[in-house]
Amino acid sequence: MARITAGVGSSHVPLLGVAADQGKTQDAYFKPIFDGYEWTKQWEREQKPDVIILVYNDHASAFDMKIVPTFAIGTGERYKPADEGWGPRQVPDVEGHPDLAWHIAQSLILDEFDMTIINEMDVDHGLTVPLTMMFGAPEAWPAKIIPLAVNVVTYPVPSGNRCWALGEAIARAVASFPEDLNVQIWGTGGMSHQLQGPRAGLINPEWDNMFLDGLVGTSDALRRIPHVEYIRETGSEGIEMVMWLIMRGALGHETRSIHRHYHVPCSNTAIGHIVLEPVA
Ligand SMILES: [Fe+2]
Repeated sequence: MARITAGVGSSHVPLLGVAADQGKTQDAYFKPIFDGYEWTKQWEREQKPDVIILVYNDHASAFDMKIVPTFAIGTGERYKPADEGWGPRQVPDVEGHPDLAWHIAQSLILDEFDMTIINEMDVDHGLTVPLTMMFGAPEAWPAKIIPLAVNVVTYPVPSGNRCWALGEAIARAVASFPEDLNVQIWGTGGMSHQLQGPRAGLINPEWDNMFLDGLVGTSDALRRIPHVEYIRETGSEGIEMVMWLIMRGALGHETRSIHRHYHVPCSNTAIGHIVLEPVA
């Protein structure tokens, strides 16, 4: 049977894609950021996941204000890097896993999560930057990817509790897929940041680390954090962190942390990264 073996949380700061693509990862500014992912790169080489369910948000690349899906799952064979204004990143196409994706879509919908099904779309930095951070610059990405896009751009965005419950439903879906697959789930986005207005540049390391702490162990307190707390404590864009709760929910009752990294500054935010294993 397919099984979720690990969860990864990571910021998806677009500047890191630029740094990697322009060979600047060893520059003084970027080195402490990329160094924090070296452990994970080695670990991923050993883990060899077959499929990654990659929870991210689109930044007006595939969707715009005409269509705003709350939860969308990519069921396509292949996704191209999106053009985000400077041309598409020169990274490999993302290969999907349609059989598992359709199975998850069916399972989630019968489990009363009304997913939007996407057969064709381009994927932006929200999805490709985490791949770069975890896998570097290979000829082809070493795992199949199921994109799971969440609306955290336009209110109303889903609650943390709903995201956690979606993760639990994803775990049930994966566990009922008959093929023997090593599946990881990644939650991306965050951490505290605000891009505009008088509080632009807000970073709250104390709150970010409280959130990272809360992902580990048996507590499910994070699922009850209201939107207003994200806005107050983590700025207008910190709400992206609800996507990490889908990853956490999918890991079950208890987790342990096997790697963690937090660094300020990274662009106008903090970089946060954690690797979790489910405790059986
Ligand atoms: Fe983002």
